Amino acid sequence: MTDTITSPDHSSAAYLDAYSRINAMVIVGEGLADRHFRLLAAAIPADAKTLQVLAAMEGRHARDFVGCGANLGVKPDTPLARSLFAPLHALFLEANRAGDRVACLVIQCLIVECFAVAAYRCYLPVADVYARPITAEVLKDEALHLSYGEDWLRPRFQQVAAGVVACCQRAVPVALSMLERLKPDLETIGIDPVELVGEFMACFQESLQAIGFSPARSRQVLTELAVSALA
Ligand SMILES: [Fe+2]
Ligand SMILES: [Fe+2]
Repeated sequence: MTDTITSPDHSSAAYLDAYSRINAMVIVGEGLADRHFRLLAAAIPADAKTLQVLAAMEGRHARDFVGCGANLGVKPDTPLARSLFAPLHALFLEANRAGDRVACLVIQCLIVECFAVAAYRCYLPVADVYARPITAEVLKDEALHLSYGEDWLRPRFQQVAAGVVACCQRAVPVALSMLERLKPDLETIGIDPVELVGEFMACFQESLQAIGFSPARSRQVLTELAVSALA
């Protein structure tokens, strides 16, 4: 994959302008992940300590990516990022208010974390020299967050399977729609949006299988989501 990538000019005006929006998405996404894990810590008292540790990691990620923007002299477009994340964050808060721990875990630990993993995997080969080692470290942490959700859902598969699918049907299209606005900026910083969606789908299918869905069923869930996104 890396042999087809041409590294962007990290100092061009176009790069820095696009980075102000992508960097803001990352910072806001990490900040929301911090908040979601703190809410999960309250919702799952038995795992509160673990979840607070994961929340703290997300807070650190947000600060590290603030540093990446500052290193390039970029001011992140935080209001835009907040507005793009608002519908997904609202779904999380709605699930949290309803006491729906399954939906909360699907939104944060599967959907948001798979997006983070996919985005950072695609960003890593085109990142500037300051951001690259930071992104590589963050990527390792996101895999742990994904595993937490999988490990909670897997032993309860029979009880949670229908809820997982229902949540995916609502929340995955919301997550994918965030990408629409960011397509040109992703391209400018060297990320192919189609490759990013492909990485997300692959990561998400792996997660569905990790919690107990058969390969055929997980493919079917994703195909239905792709079809509804095109409708
Ligand atoms: Fe993170
Ligand atoms: Fe994470």
